[in-house]
Amino acid sequence: MYIYKEKDYAGVSRRAANILSAQIISKPDSILGLATGSSPIGAYKQLVESYQNGDLDFTKVRSFNLDEYRGLADDNSNSYHFFMNQNLFAHINMKPENVHLPNGMAEDIEKECSDYDELIQELGGIDIQLLGLGHNGHIGFNEPDEAFITGTHLVKLTQKTIEANSRLFSRLEDVPREALTMGIKSIMLSKRILIIVSGEDKAEAVKNMLLGPVTPKVPASILQLHPNVILVADEDALKYIPANF
Ligand code: F6R
Repeated sequence: MYIYKEKDYAGVSRRAANILSAQIISKPDSILGLATGSSPIGAYKQLVESYQNGDLDFTKVRSFNLDEYRGLADDNSNSYHFFMNQNLFAHINMKPENVHLPNGMAEDIEKECSDYDELIQELGGIDIQLLGLGHNGHIGFNEPDEAFITGTHLVKLTQKTIEANSRLFSRLEDVPREALTMGIKSIMLSKRILIIVSGEDKAEAVKNMLLGPVTPKVPASILQLHPNVILVADEDALKYIPANF
């Protein structure tokens, strides 16, 4: 694992956007795995600016998002689809048919999940998967569990995650209780993983991810076993990680 230690969120965003830009420039038909949440917003902003400056072209890029709430349509302002449009897709020249998120409205959830994983592999696999880190060590919506869940699947969200995500909803009751998420296997099959973390409140999760045992109780700890991971984090998030790690 390669670790970039940045001063703050702005530094994390800049580094992450530069890594994603380098990927797109060196392989214009890259397949990107994308995430929602607060962590990637700054990086997406820089990607939009680079596109507007003429430094990036997304016409051949394809993307697969990590997750989507169950029961929210694409145009629901709380859906991850909506978030991605607002923060990235509406401002760049990606072709709509090249954008993929799990369909939270699918009737046959099992088929939706297996089709999602199959399509990723058919197209050649994800070149770089962007991840954020949950306070409890989750990646995607893979919550602490007794076993690592493999492919894309339906999850019941934990109370902690429902509460953390409620900041984006008007009422706690409005937060969906279920989501579709890429599984640990789907994530681990990515050729490269870029995980971005900012803030002291994530320091414990970073410590558990890097220094603790590989365990499904800390889903992100599995990244210790991936051969090509880049962690971009700020000083606060890295406060428990020894300088020589
Ligand atoms: C988002 C996702 C989540 C977040 C994580 C961190 O698509 O899958 O795992 O990356 O909850 O969220 P933020 O960035 O809001 O702290």
